[in-house]
Amino acid sequence: MSSATPPTSADVQQRLIAQYAEIAQLAGALAHEIKNPLSTIRLNMELLAEDLDEAQTPAQRRALKRIDTVQRECSRLQDLLDNFLDFAKVRRLSLKPTDLNRELQETLDFFAPEAAEGGIEVVRYFDPDLPTVQLDREVFRGSLLNLLINAKQAMPGGGQIVLRTRTAGDRAVLQIIDTGCGIDDHTAAHMFEAFYSTKPGGSGLGLPTAAKIIEAHGGMIQVQSELGQGTQFTIELPVAPRLGRE
Ligand SMILES: Nc1ncnc2c1ncn2[C@@H]1O[C@H](COP(=O)(O)OP(=O)(O)O)[C@@H](O)[C@H]1O
Ligand SMILES: [Mg+2]
Repeated sequence: MSSATPPTSADVQQRLIAQYAEIAQLAGALAHEIKNPLSTIRLNMELLAEDLDEAQTPAQRRALKRIDTVQRECSRLQDLLDNFLDFAKVRRLSLKPTDLNRELQETLDFFAPEAAEGGIEVVRYFDPDLPTVQLDREVFRGSLLNLLINAKQAMPGGGQIVLRTRTAGDRAVLQIIDTGCGIDDHTAAHMFEAFYSTKPGGSGLGLPTAAKIIEAHGGMIQVQSELGQGTQFTIELPVAPRLGRE
């Protein structure tokens, strides 16, 4: 009789990771497959709408309205699939020593028109001596933009976003603070879960994607919030080792 060694917790963990990777890959492939017929549907809806451009009869007008609904839902699905593909993507980061303050400034320049449109003042308190961090700038910018957009959406009547950087031991710390609606306990407990959203039409993938990206950089993200006052996200990133020094 052969007695198999019971699997260790490391074995179980390895197997779970492999299963997760397989499911993530399948889900990504499925999302891709759905995108093609979806764009065919959208294209045909556009053509139909063009045909009915000069709608005369009530029936034609009703048809145009329905086409409009289908088009809107198609574009919602397309956004959802794009967000999902971005979330499920297995990223190979291309890390480079980066000046985080400069990266933040460039992201803010990109975000400036959106902030202006939403009546949002952006204030920076950057630590001039912030040490270099290892970043995949393009990927990291995606996570920053998700956080900035959430902050904007939390302040529909306008408000303020503060971006602060500082050094804490071997970590660079970034805080994104808004004066928005704040987060209740139930939302705080679930908001890092995929598809959890309190917004009509929200994908619920912004924060989980941002957290995945930050964790892939060896960092972490935390949140503190006061209902009706605002929210503060704190991101910690490991400082890049200095060249020439062990
Ligand atoms: N800065 C913020 N202020 C208030 N609530 C927030 C903020 N950021 C995130 N949230 C909450 O977390 C939820 C999940 O955010 P996210 O994953 O980006 O999905 P979505 O923005 O599509 O709803 C939001 O629906 C919202 O309730
Ligand atoms: Mg979001």
